[in-house]
Formats: sequence, structure tokens, C-alpha cells
Amino acid sequence: MENVQERIQELTKILEEANYNYYVLDNPTITDQEFDKYLRELEVLEEKYPEYASLNSPTKRVGGQVIDKFVKLRHQIPMLSLPDVFNEDEIRAFDERIRKSGFEPQYVCELKIDGLSVSLHYDDGVFVTGATRGDGVVGEDITHNVRTIKTVPMRLRKPVSIEVRGEIYMGRETLAKLNYEREQLHLPKLQNCRNAAAGSIRQLDSKVAAQRNLDTWIYHLPNPLDYGIKTHFEALEYMKKLGFKVNPANRLVKNIDEILAFIHEYHEKRATLSYDIDGVVIKVNDLQMQQALGYTSKYPRWAIAYKFPAEEVLTKLTDIIFTVGRTGRITPNAVLEPVIVMGSTVKRATLHNEDYIVEKGLKIGDIVSIRKAGDVIPEVVEAKTERRTGSEKDFVMITKCPICGSPLQKKPNQVDHYCMNEECPARHIEGLIHFVSRHAMNIDGLGERIMEDFFNLGFIKSIPDIYHLESHREDLIELEGYGNKSVDNLLDAIENSKRNSLERLLFALGIGGIGDKTALLLARTFKNLDNLASKTKEELQQIKDIGPILAQNIASYFADEKNQDLIHQLKDLGLNMSYLGEEIKESDLISGKRFVVTGTISFMGRDEIESILSNYGGHPSSSVSSKTDVVIVGEKAGSKETKARELGIEIWDEEKLYSVFKDLGEV
Ligand code: IVH
Repeated sequence: MENVQERIQELTKILEEANYNYYVLDNPTITDQEFDKYLRELEVLEEKYPEYASLNSPTKRVGGQVIDKFVKLRHQIPMLSLPDVFNEDEIRAFDERIRKSGFEPQYVCELKIDGLSVSLHYDDGVFVTGATRGDGVVGEDITHNVRTIKTVPMRLRKPVSIEVRGEIYMGRETLAKLNYEREQLHLPKLQNCRNAAAGSIRQLDSKVAAQRNLDTWIYHLPNPLDYGIKTHFEALEYMKKLGFKVNPANRLVKNIDEILAFIHEYHEKRATLSYDIDGVVIKVNDLQMQQALGYTSKYPRWAIAYKFPAEEVLTKLTDIIFTVGRTGRITPNAVLEPVIVMGSTVKRATLHNEDYIVEKGLKIGDIVSIRKAGDVIPEVVEAKTERRTGSEKDFVMITKCPICGSPLQKKPNQVDHYCMNEECPARHIEGLIHFVSRHAMNIDGLGERIMEDFFNLGFIKSIPDIYHLESHREDLIELEGYGNKSVDNLLDAIENSKRNSLERLLFALGIGGIGDKTALLLARTFKNLDNLASKTKEELQQIKDIGPILAQNIASYFADEKNQDLIHQLKDLGLNMSYLGEEIKESDLISGKRFVVTGTISFMGRDEIESILSNYGGHPSSSVSSKTDVVIVGEKAGSKETKARELGIEIWDEEKLYSVFKDLGEV
């Protein structure tokens, strides 16, 4: 028996080493036949002695583990993103700012990989978890899929406990192959390497992820001091020694000229790389310097991301179509011959209003140039008039609403045209906007403009459509402004809203006279929707605060077959129909409000404060805007406090917070 265990360990070692040599070092040491022979031997042993089969075994690289949902994981150190810069001046300003702080910096230039960031944890050299960045504070556990990425070591070359971060990406050739296979199967093609990688890593079944042949570049060590490391470049070397795939392009440079040379070199080489990059990351090398420079709430002050210039491409403007907003506002949209810009297909671009089109002198049939930077909305730059053939058609503004046909009006001194018909079906969207709004189902990311867009595009025509938005995933990613990350966030927010307590759904349904307070009263009293729906007008009137009109409204609402059908559909979609009040605590001072905590509060850490606020239905966020309700101000609060005061936002000092929390029994 002991021999079996030893043999399993031995085979694991041979196979992991072979993987490392093949995938990380690109230097095969054994033949494919030998590899297969060892792998089969290991498979047989693991099958016979499952008690010795590790989840990290080389046999698991092909996947097999299936999870039923993604578990959230909190990052001990937040996963920050980087501030973008777009030109040489901004790079010089970054360097000057650092020099002004009294430093003589050296930098490390790295390629900015177009994938998604990942955090990997190891205990005593053994892989334990992999997580996505998520919102930077809480990510998702993708361990089962990370195990299938061949360049992620399952055992490090030293038995250290460590977290490293880097990028998961899909190589260009892999994407091309995958799209070829998808085409054969009549499946829609994946737009670009980043979307493909993100989609692959979010698979519940790790077999699917395994087939996607994902790869990694590791570029960040969050706790370098724990390993006696003094510079970022050393950290990169150290991670390489541990067995991670570290990009050979990384370069230590001494000055701006060398940074610019690096950028120039890789701008040229970009097309020849086997993976997508969208810029160059510039990091201060010295870790003490990094520490002294510190962080803003979103970014490190010691690194920037230079983004390659937006790509401009030519395509044909095949038509201009019009959409109607909730207020009746008409927006012209360019219909374009599909064209790939910055890795994603562009088919539409907003043309804002009539004047915009007239100023640009666009004609239907024109060859136009389109510009798009990263996830930013694509825009029509100009018409290539020299390419005109004479067959182009002049643009004529419509005079009637494309939805209801009523005449359009333009208010004096305004650029927009409006449909004035209050009954125009385009306005049905009002109820849908209410459904997702903050006090109703509170679906973050479905603001008014987006709902208008989705309505006009036919994605959301009714409430259940909101919960079918997933089926338009690919379309959403292609759409202007909806990047992969925002689509993921949006779909998550929609999914999460299914777990709302009953009062939110009751309010969201828009039953005449049911405001959020009444909704809460009804939810508390009747506990679930079926119970409420079964009550007669008379029974409802028994409740204090429910008068005859409201009782009639409620009874009629639930008697209507259309509404019964809607509720039936929502139930099938998995929406919670019960009151969950016991779980969400109550406080009028907190519930539904947006909070920003800034500065140091002496009696409690920020995380804990935010989590208590959330428990009472508050929404903590990191930046102050006009939407913020309360700013909690601790010691050394700084610019957020100033901004809050400028905007006239309610401010709680430490004393006030303490008294609110004390009343709630939280301190
Ligand atoms: S460093 C605190 N290095 O770009 C350090 N990021 O815009 C944070 N990225 O979220 C990241 N290549 O997903 C770093 N060589 C590189 C990178 C890189 C790609 C991504 C990463 C990050 C985003 C920031």
C-alpha cells in the first residue's frame, strides 16, 4: 500500500515536471507517448485507490470537477486596477510626480495582457484556491477551472505559502481554433480573446474550461516583504523560480526614454505576439518607494497603464435607424456593416441627434471611419467623402414616431426631437424601469438609459425578459459600451435580485397604491405572495393602514389573469416570493441609503462598518457623488469629506455613527 502512495507521488512529480517544461519553459523533456503512459498509470492507480487521489493531480488537468454555483471569496488585499494614460505627456507627468516625492525611480515595463486578472493561493507550496478579481474586494472562486490551466503549477518548486496575481488569457490561435469549431456547430463566434477567456473561466463544469486551453502570465506579488524581496523585478524573478509563467518581455528600465522605447518596440511587435495586449504597464521597481507612494482608493500611485491608441477602421454606413426613449426622445443610430474594432464587432453607433449627423455631413451608403478604445462606446468619426460613388443617399430626419406614428416635435433651442404621444408604447418602458429601480428590485447596472436601449433593441419587452437577458449575452458584449466585465456584473446583479425579500418584488410589481412602506407591511403580514394573493378585499382591510381602495387594488391585481400569469412566470424563473425580514435587519437611518466611509474610525474597521451597513440594507460605496446619501467621516478624511460638503451631502462623524450603531446593538 505504501508503495502505491509513493508511486502516485512519483508519477505526479514526473508529470508536473513534464507539464512545467512543456508549457511554462516551452522546452519538452519527455515525449508525448511517455507522458501518456505515465498519465494512464496514474489514472489507473487513482481509480483503484481513490483515497490517494489529490484534486491537484495531473489527471485533473482535463477537468471533471463541476460546481453548482460560484462562491464569493474576499481578497485579503484588494485587487486594484491601474490608471490609464494615453500619451507621452501623461507618462512624463507620472514620472515627474514620483520625482517630486523625492525619488529617483527605476521602472519595470510590462506588457498589458488583455485577459482577466486572477489571484492564486498556495499553502506550503500546494495550490489551494484561484479567484477572479470581482469588484476588487470580493471575487469568485474559480479553483476548479484554474486547476485545468497547464501553466498554473499545482505544486511550487519551493514549499512556500504565497499569493500571486496575474492574468488569465486565451491565445490567439486557441481562439481561432475554438471559433472554427463553433462555426461548424453553428454557434455564435466568440468576439475576442478577452471575452473568450472570461467566458471560459466562468464555466461551472471544469471540463469545458479545460478544453479552452487557457494560459497565464503572472505579474504581481502582493506580499513581497514576506519573502525578503526588495524590488518588483526581483519579485518577478522569484515567482519565475517558483514555477510560474512570467513574461520574458518584462524589462527593467532607468528613464523615460527607455520606457518610450519599450512602448514603441511592443507597439510594433504587438501584431506578431501569440496573445492580445492592449498597452504597457509601467511600475516603480523599488518596493519601499512603492510603499511610500501608496494608493488612492482605486489605484496604486506607483504604476500606470499606457493604452495603445484607439484603432480606427473603415466600414459602410448602411442605414440610420431611430429609437425612442422613455421621455419620447428620438435617437438616430448608425447601422454599420459589421467590423472588428479593438477585437470586438461593431454594428451600431449612436449618432445622438439630427444636428450631429448634419454637421458630419453623413450620407447613407458612405464609407465612414469608426473609432473605439477598449470598452469605450464606438463612434463614427467622419465620412470618407473621397470614397463616394454617387449612389449615397442624403440623410432625412424622420417626422413621425417610428413606434406609434405620431408627429415629432422639436422644442425651441433644443437639438432633440420628441414623440409627444403619452400613450406611445415606447413609454411602457416606464413600468420596466420602475421594476429594476433602487427601491424595487434594485438591479445595479440597469439604469434608465440602458433599459431604454434594451427595450428598443427588443431584449427587454416585459418583466420576465429581464431574467432572460443572459440569452443575449453575446449581443450585449458586442453592444456599444457594454464590455465583458459590465455584462458579467449586470447578469450577476439580475441573478442576485431573484433572492430579494418579498417587499421588493411587491413594490416592483407596481400595484396601484403600494409604495415601498406598504409593500413592507404586506410582506411582513402575509409572509409570502401566494398567501397575500389568496386574500379577499375584506380580509385585506382587516390590516391596519390598508384602506378599502388599496384593498380593492390588491385584490383586483391578483384576480387579473395577466398578472397571475406574470407571477407564475417569475416563480418559474426562481424569484423568491417570501419575506426574508429576519435576515435583513431594519433601520430607517440606513436602509436603502448609499454610504461612503472615509478616514479612520477609531472604534471599528471600515470593512466591518460597511458590512454592518449592508446588513441593514445600506449600500456602501467608495466614491462620493450626488447619489451618495451619507458620508461617514473619520480622522484624516480628506477630499471625500470636502466633496461631500460641497454637494451638501449628510455627514456623520464618528460620534453619530457610534450612536446609530449603539442603538442597533452593533457596538
Ligand atoms: S498590475 C496593483 N500588470 O490590467 C497592480 N496588471 O488596468 C495591479 N493587467 O486589473 C495590476 N497586464 O487585469 C498589472 N502586466 C500587468 C498587467 C495587468 C494586464 C490588467 C489587470 C489589471 C488591469 C489594470
